[in-house]
Amino acid sequence: MTKKLLRALNGETQAVPPIWMMRQAGRYLPEYRATRAQAGDFLSLCYNSELAAEVTLQPIRRYGFDAAILFADILLLPQALGADLWFVTGEGPRLSTITAQGDFDKLGQGEMIHETLNPIYETVRILRRELPEETTLIGFAGAPWTVATYMIAGRGTPDQGPAHALKAENTPLFDALMERLTVATIDYLSAQIEAGAEVVKLFDSWAGSLKGADFDRYALQPAKTIIAELKSRHPNVPVIAFPREAGEAYVGFAKATGADCVALDNSVSPDWAAAHVQVDGCVQGNLASRHMVTGGDALVQETRAIVKAFSNGPHIFNLGHGITPDADPENVQLMIDTVRETA
Ligand code: CP3
Repeated sequence: MTKKLLRALNGETQAVPPIWMMRQAGRYLPEYRATRAQAGDFLSLCYNSELAAEVTLQPIRRYGFDAAILFADILLLPQALGADLWFVTGEGPRLSTITAQGDFDKLGQGEMIHETLNPIYETVRILRRELPEETTLIGFAGAPWTVATYMIAGRGTPDQGPAHALKAENTPLFDALMERLTVATIDYLSAQIEAGAEVVKLFDSWAGSLKGADFDRYALQPAKTIIAELKSRHPNVPVIAFPREAGEAYVGFAKATGADCVALDNSVSPDWAAAHVQVDGCVQGNLASRHMVTGGDALVQETRAIVKAFSNGPHIFNLGHGITPDADPENVQLMIDTVRETA
């Protein structure tokens, strides 16, 4: 029997959809916090293949999710290209910035990324040995725009202002960075697939700040290029695209890019998305992650509404964005029980 997640990605409608959760290995779990302390810090955990595999497996053991997502981060790729990267506790990532040609010229390219990223591929190999046979392993990378926003600003930003400014003021440099990231992302995801990833997901967390022609040029086109090249190298590996907060631009995104599934954030209504996005194939989503903090009847009602809205087509149940550190692990169990009972 084929795995539930792969069946959904293959277009099958299932009475009970497969379930996994963005950031399912994370700080809301005491066992994650313990392993991270053992590793020392977040980046040391990412590059310690044994411990990264361990934290990937923790939510599978606890909840029996249908998929495991490789434990790593989208910012490891800029680091592998030569950017400095560190995490400030309680604040988030910091990187060396790219604001002028000279900063870009210091970046590497080609096979050199694998020197840094080899431990990540080793994590994938360990996971393929250790995961239960019904659990699908998802690899991932950030989409070029989202990764570029962090590389340009050197940190997370509320409106991606520095990236928008570079795009407007030095388009050739911005385009060169996007091209470098597009090629590196293809190589990185291909290597994850060769190590054993069965599905890959492209996270474009800041796609929503690209409007009109910019959305086509910097969110849709790079996704299309990456997916086309992955499909030519690995024709049977499904791709999930997540152009977060794309809104109306979710419509037609799968067809235009060749993605096998579009992941939806919780700003779109499930009924609207069923009518306008799921008509083209599998969708993933889209419970608001705050329900993992608040729980109760609202969690149950909203979970049921999402399962019902997407019940006539291929669907992967997920949150609309990552689970937060203040979430209650019991609410995750309540969500899973609700999905598996109501369907
Ligand atoms: O989902 C998973 O369980 C797999 C692992 C994973 C992480 N980050 C681990 C992580 C994945 C898929 C990501 C993706 C990621 N990383 C994205 C795209 C998805 C999204 O959330 O929009 C982005 C933008 C990043 C960059 C990043 N990493 C930020 C902005 C932060 C700090 C914010 C925060 O939540 O603390 C991180 C840190 C990070 N990545 C943590 C985890 C578990 C928390 C670090 C810790 O343990 O201290």
